[in-house]
Order: sequence, then C-alpha cells, then structure tokens
Amino acid sequence: MTASPEPRTLEGLVFVITGGGRGLGESAARLAARRGAAVVVSDTNAEAGEETVATIAADGGRAAFVGCDVTDEAQVAALMAGAAERFGGIDVLVNNAGVIDWALADDTSLEGFGRDHFARVLEVGVTGAWLCAKHALPHLRASQHACILNAGSMASFVGWAGINAYCAAKGGVLLLTRSLAAELAPAGVRVNCYCPGNVRTPMMETVFESAEDKDAWTEELLSTHLVRRFGEPDDIAQLICFLGSPQASYITGQSFVADGGTLAWRGTADQLPFAA
Ligand SMILES: NC(=O)c1ccc[n+]([C@@H]2O[C@H](COP(=O)([O-])OP(=O)(O)OC[C@H]3O[C@@H](n4cnc5c(N)ncnc54)[C@H](O)[C@@H]3O)[C@@H](O)[C@H]2O)c1
Repeated sequence: MTASPEPRTLEGLVFVITGGGRGLGESAARLAARRGAAVVVSDTNAEAGEETVATIAADGGRAAFVGCDVTDEAQVAALMAGAAERFGGIDVLVNNAGVIDWALADDTSLEGFGRDHFARVLEVGVTGAWLCAKHALPHLRASQHACILNAGSMASFVGWAGINAYCAAKGGVLLLTRSLAAELAPAGVRVNCYCPGNVRTPMMETVFESAEDKDAWTEELLSTHLVRRFGEPDDIAQLICFLGSPQASYITGQSFVADGGTLAWRGTADQLPFAA
C-alpha cells in the first residue's frame, strides 16, 4: 500500500528550523517540506544538516542548509538574512535547538555541575531562541502567516532532579513564548511553544546513556505514560507543522504538550488495567 500524499498545508511558506540536523528538528523539516514549505535547515552540525537537506531534496522538496550556532549573534543575523535571500522571506521560525545538562557533564548535580555548563544550556535554549526571534523579526513582519515556535518540554512545567539548567531553560522558554506573543501581536506574529515528552531522538539517547540501569530507567519512564510507548519525532513534527500552518491562525501565546499523557496524571502504570 502506498502512503497517501501529505496535504499541501504549508505551500508557499518558508520555514527556518534551528537544530534541524537531527531528532525533532530533522523530522519537522522533512514533514514541512512534504507539506509544501521551503525549509532552511540550520544546525551547528553541518554534516547532519546537509543530510537532512539531501533527504528532503531526494523526496522532491525544497531545502537549504545554513550552519549556525544560535548563541552567536553574528551567525544568527547571517542565518536570517541568508534564509530570506534564498527563499524570498521567512514565515515560520522554529526555535528547536536545545541542549540538556546530561550531554555536557557526568555530574549534573547542583554541587557537581559547572557554571559554564549551566550558562551554556540557558544560552542555547533561551538566549538562542531570543536572538533568532530578534533577527527573524524584520522578515516575519513582511509575512502574512508569521509565526515563531519555541521548543519547550515537560520540564517547562515540572522539575526533574539532575537537570536544573534544562528545567530553568525550558521554564524560561514558556514565558518567553508568552511575552513575545504579546509584544509581537501587533506585528501579526503568532508565538507558540511545543512541549514534547519522552521522544526517541539522539538527545533522548543521551538521557538513556546517563542511566546506570537502562532497562529500569526505561520501565520507570514508561510507567508514567498513558499512551504506552515513547514518542517518535514525527509525533512532534505533526504538532509543529500544524502550529506553523495558516490553519492555526487563531492560536498564539500557547503551549502544547505532546507527552503521551505523562503530565495529565499522578501515578504509575501498575495502578491501571493495562493488558500485559
Ligand atoms: N527528545 C525529547 O524527548 C525532547 C523532549 C522535550 C523537549 N525536547 C526539545 O526539543 C528540541 C529538540 O530535541 P531533540 O531531542 O531533537 O535534540 P537532539 O539533541 O537530538 O537534536 C538537537 C539538534 O540541535 C543542534 N544544536 C545543539 N546546540 C545548538 C546550537 N547552539 N545552535 C544550533 N544548533 C544546535 C544539535 O546539533 C542537534 O542537531 C530541544 O530543544 C529539546 O530540548 C526534546
């Protein structure tokens, strides 16, 4: 059976996706292109970014890679100028790049984690999103469907031991979303936040690698899910592509959790009658 074609809901739009080389960003880039968007894939990892672009091109889509570390303002300015020049504007900025404490150090406790690492997580997650919004704004102002999407997390809402910087960053992203939604409303720019749960990506692998007993950790994580599986990158790509589409034109200043129901309740699976 051949897959039915994607609806062309993003036809004519230009997406810029940071951290688009792998994981959620890659998946969002591929789906946006299949739905008709031209996609600027940006990442610090040029090899991964170029691969995403090659996959999109092979699929008949339009995409270009622009390398950028979102914490470097000159690179961010060049990214937005280059994206607008290449595809004639910017409609949807996806501030997806992020880094988690566990990727930077073995000891992520309050006592063990260094200030430079703490600052880096906040720089990438919060300052990077702010810088990208700032430099995309002149181009977004010219769009009829302007939108900024920020990567939040379950950690935008609840604390988690051992990832203090990540929780601080994702909490910050949630309120940055709301403040920008208010400030940019007169310019016609919608701003929303997508908040994934436990989704299978390279970042998630980092989380597993940090666990002493991977099986126990997997079981513990899954025991909090109402949907009995981990998320897949496409689950989040679907949300991103809807929020970035003209069909979401009435939605701004909001956060959307896609976590298999993890935050909806307080309990573990052994309290529910799941079939074995
Ligand atoms: N995977 C999950 O379960 C999950 C859950 C909640 C939130 N998120 C958030 O979603 C986003 C994507 O997560 P993921 O799991 O795909 O992560 P990932 O680590 O698999 O991929 C992130 C990408 O961002 C790039 N990147 C990192 N620092 C960058 C920088 N300074 N500038 C530009 N690019 C940079 C990396 O090279 C990588 O390609 C992140 O913001 C993450 O915090 C993920």
